[in-house]
Amino acid sequence: MTAYFEIRNLAVSFRTFEGIHPVLKIEHLAIERGETYGLVGESGAGKTVLALTILGLLPKPAGIIHSGEIWFDGDDLLKKSEQELASAYRGKRLAMIFQDPMSTLNPVFTIGQQIERVIEQHQGLKGAARTRRAVELLDMVKLPDAKNVLRKYPHELSGGQRQRVIIAIALSCGAEFLIADEPTRNLDVTIQAGILKLIDELQKSLRISVLFIANNVSLVNVFCKNVGILYRGKLVEEGPSALVTRQPQHPYTQTLISAIPRDKSEKLRFANIKIKPEAPQGCPFYSRCPIGVEQCMQGEPMLEPVEDQQHRAACFLVKRD
Ligand SMILES: Nc1ncnc2c1ncn2[C@@H]1O[C@H](COP(=O)(O)OP(=O)(O)O)[C@@H](O)[C@H]1O
Ligand code: SF4
Ligand SMILES: [Mg+2]
Repeated sequence: MTAYFEIRNLAVSFRTFEGIHPVLKIEHLAIERGETYGLVGESGAGKTVLALTILGLLPKPAGIIHSGEIWFDGDDLLKKSEQELASAYRGKRLAMIFQDPMSTLNPVFTIGQQIERVIEQHQGLKGAARTRRAVELLDMVKLPDAKNVLRKYPHELSGGQRQRVIIAIALSCGAEFLIADEPTRNLDVTIQAGILKLIDELQKSLRISVLFIANNVSLVNVFCKNVGILYRGKLVEEGPSALVTRQPQHPYTQTLISAIPRDKSEKLRFANIKIKPEAPQGCPFYSRCPIGVEQCMQGEPMLEPVEDQQHRAACFLVKRD
């Protein structure tokens, strides 16, 4: 039995001028129907590559999937042809929103033209019915004065308004699984909160599942049931968000959480870490780990249950029982 959404033994690399560069190695990640899962990692950790791999959009031939299964509602997406993914999954059942709304919206067409084109393509609606549906979608993402917004060009909207339009377009075809790749990254903090609240409300009202990708752990702990911490393409800690964020076990998660400023002493604790040499055979975090020991250079720690038995961490020094 697989979960509603489940990744198994996924290994992805990129072919570069310097050779094959491993980017992702995820042994297991599962999301239940109707759950919001938060995936957190710093820039370059492999978050976008994971999103693209799920959707079958990994750039080819540079991107190589060495192994793995990505189960979605009983089917392995990695076994689907490009034609099947395009006609039956992407946009229809799986939707994605990107961090930069301007790269998704075309600056030379009005919002109305862009939303209505998608509605016509996927739902076959025309004329007044098509416009009515567009207005409904803008209402759904809480954009006031929808009729007026439809007449505007992307540059006439604020960043937050544009991101709402993108969410409306992404969900226009009734997708049941949404991948939100750092949707608030380029927005002001005050606007970020509104977009997060909107995604949370839509997840509940539409009963969709969400893979919410962020580079900051403080964005996910409020509304994600489970959280995974990605470091250099590997999950180093995973479990219920309250446990991972309040009792982080892996030194990397602790670093991320202490980077959310609380008091001066905590900031200092991690400010003086001496960068050590890489340990090619050992723990991927060794070079930056404040507590790493000789043993950490010898082998790679597995993602295994920690003392509370409810969440998992990949570190030799965490307490297991
Ligand atoms: N088209 C590509 N060719 C080669 N390497 C790439 C390509 N896209 C991404 N990468 C590499 O894959 C790694 C993960 O990138 P990415 O998934 O974009 O990180 P994140 O989204 O977590 O910031 C990075 O080291 C990046 O340089
Ligand atoms: S295994 Fe060692 S180097 Fe890796 S995170 Fe744990 S203590 Fe640090
Ligand atoms: Mg990214």
